[in-house]
This record gives sequence, C-alpha cells and structure tokens, in this order.
Amino acid sequence: MAQAGWKEFPEPYDGSRQHRDFWVSWEYSVRNQELPADELAWYLRHARRYGGTVLELGCGSGRVLTAMVKRGVIVDGVDISQSMINATRSSLAEIGFSNSVGLHTGDMATFEFPREYASVQIPYNSIQYLGTVERISDALSHWYREMNVGSTLLFMTYHRKESWYSQGRRRHYKKDPVRHAGAGISVTHEVEECLVGTSTVHRTITRSIVDDTGIKDSWTEESVVPLLSAEGYGELVRAAGFVVNTFCDYSEERTWDGGPMACHVARKGTSVGA
Ligand SMILES: C[S@@+](CC[C@H](N)C(=O)[O-])C[C@H]1O[C@@H](n2cnc3c(N)ncnc32)[C@H](O)[C@@H]1O
Repeated sequence: MAQAGWKEFPEPYDGSRQHRDFWVSWEYSVRNQELPADELAWYLRHARRYGGTVLELGCGSGRVLTAMVKRGVIVDGVDISQSMINATRSSLAEIGFSNSVGLHTGDMATFEFPREYASVQIPYNSIQYLGTVERISDALSHWYREMNVGSTLLFMTYHRKESWYSQGRRRHYKKDPVRHAGAGISVTHEVEECLVGTSTVHRTITRSIVDDTGIKDSWTEESVVPLLSAEGYGELVRAAGFVVNTFCDYSEERTWDGGPMACHVARKGTSVGA
C-alpha cells in the first residue's frame, strides 16, 4: 500500500498495521487541530529567545511544528510513526512549506541530529511515551551528547498530583468518536488508566474502527507512563549533565485530561553542571 497522506484514506480497510497507524494519526490530527494560544506561546517564546533552528522530538501530526513554521520559526521534526510524519508533511504542504522542513521517522531516544539546533523542544507529553525512567534518562544523556553547548531543551510533562487518582487510583473514559464522512468510518477511543505505586500509570487504549455495518476492527494498546514529580524530572535532567534553567508548573491553568502539566527548560552548559 502506498503511504497515505493525512487526508487520503487507505482503502479498502484491511486492519493492517499501516491502516491502523493511518487512522490513529488521522484521529490525532482531527482531535488536536486546535493549539491553545497559551501553549503555543511557550514554544514560540522559547524558540525566539534562543533563535536558530528548532528540533521537535515526537512532532506527531505537526500540531505545534506547523504553527511554529507558519510564524517564521525554522523547525525540523522527528516522530516514530511514519503516518504521523505523513500527516505533518500534508499539513506543511497545505501552508506551502513542504521543502524547508526536515522531517524524519525515527526513535527520539536515539535520533542522531543531522544538523545543529539552537533548541530542542518536546511539546506535550511525548517524552513520557519513552515509558520508563531509565529510557528517559538514557535519552536525556543521548540528547546532551547530540546538542551543542549553549543550546536548550524544553519539554512538557504531566506530573503527579495526589488528587488526580484519589478515586480508587483508576480512571476510565471515552472520547467522542471521530467520523470521516468520506470513508464512512468512525474511530472510537476508550482509555483505562491505573496508578501503580506512586509514579507509574498503566494505560490501556482501545480503539475501534466502526462503519455502518458495525465494528470493523478493534485493538488495544498498552503503555506505561512514568509520572515523576517536576523535581524528579529536574534530577534526571541534571544527572544527564544539563543545567536546569526554569521549571513552570501549569497545574492551575492548564491540565492534561485532569492532570497538571509542567514545562521544563534545560541548557547544555560549557562544562557539566555549569
Ligand atoms: C501526544 S503526541 C504529541 C505530538 C505533538 N508533539 C503535539 O504536541 O501535538 C506524542 C507523539 O510522540 C510520538 N512518539 C512516541 N514515542 C516516540 C519515540 N520513541 N520517538 C519519536 N516519537 C515518538 C508518537 O508517535 C506521537 O506522535
């Protein structure tokens, strides 16, 4: 099957990995078309303060990357999902920036930087998709080695707040189905989350592809999300060699599905810890 762009849908639906990836990236794109102005302001302010080219790790369907590029920031993007990269490429083409952005399919944890970046940004909670504290630590050390002295790393996390799981340490919710009228398909999305210990959430996402005849396909993805406190992330960042410049707690005004979000900014100094 040819790699589909964001708005072309692969037909007929065959439940293959590529089809599932396509519909996940399509659903993500549709659900996240809006980028809240205050969230974008974080990324823009950071990019403009340090100037130069930005690398976005875990760029997804280009929600942030496209908005930044539109506002004159040079951004390259990396995502592990080819379908997400296709979606980003389509969004960029729509605003006429197809050739000026470097898009790469790859694992952020081991990605070798193809050029120098003034800053590296990991919007939303993509860093937590690495799944374990060890993987996050290893990735931070890898980015430290790849980054230039003086360049900065910004990442967002949602972090632990005791009240989040106060009701039985378990949450279950469904998102509204997203319908693609042209394909006659809806994507449903149901999440089960359980706090294990004090710093790990086990998450199960069940997605179904539904057409007029009923459920065509349904699958479950399990993941583990490390939920460190903001200070906990600060320790990991420092252990990798970075200087932690700022940390901002979004808790009161911005939430991720009920959990507080934090924004971390770190810098690679002239010597370790400097
Ligand atoms: C919550 S989305 C965020 C996308 C985008 N940054 C935004 O704010 O809209 C997380 C993204 O991280 C990507 N991702 C997960 N693990 C990754 C990895 N190891 N390397 C690169 N990308 C990864 C997923 O494919 C997904 O597109």
